Amino acid sequence: MEPSATIIDEAIAQKRSLPGALLPVLHAIQDALGFIPPEAVPRIAHGLNLSQADVHGVISFYHDFRSTPPGRHVMKLCRAEACQAMGSDALAAHLKRRLGIEWKETSRDGALTIEPVYCLGNCALSPALMIDGKLRGRITATALDAVIEACRRDGGQRDLASASNPESAS
Ligand code: FES
Repeated sequence: MEPSATIIDEAIAQKRSLPGALLPVLHAIQDALGFIPPEAVPRIAHGLNLSQADVHGVISFYHDFRSTPPGRHVMKLCRAEACQAMGSDALAAHLKRRLGIEWKETSRDGALTIEPVYCLGNCALSPALMIDGKLRGRITATALDAVIEACRRDGGQRDLASASNPESAS
């Protein structure tokens, strides 16, 4: 059995008794694998007694779930109102142009996956983004470029927190 199949089956076994088990199962699989592989859909449907269309519908409805493996780093740029009012539309256009990709795609070098998100709870410091789970605020195009460059330089999981605010980096 593929290692990913074992992880999928374990997630189903551990969470199936929870009320509304589908979301916890999907989160557990994505936490372990970084995405929900296509082969997970029939296993989950069988394990939770749902149709494959139900499982598929939930994966596509929630922005958080990925159906393909992410890059080495994942950036979520806030697209909600407060951040839009502070220029996140222009930042989004800049980001996509710089990388030559659309939302939920990964740069060709595998460094960075970009995802839209709808409020990171950091509205007071908008426009905001999250890089590898770390919140950054008051993002400018220059700060965004610094994060992109740091992701491209870094082959592993180095802490990129200071890269989005080059003024504060030592
Ligand atoms: S609207 Fe962007 S962090 Fe809340």
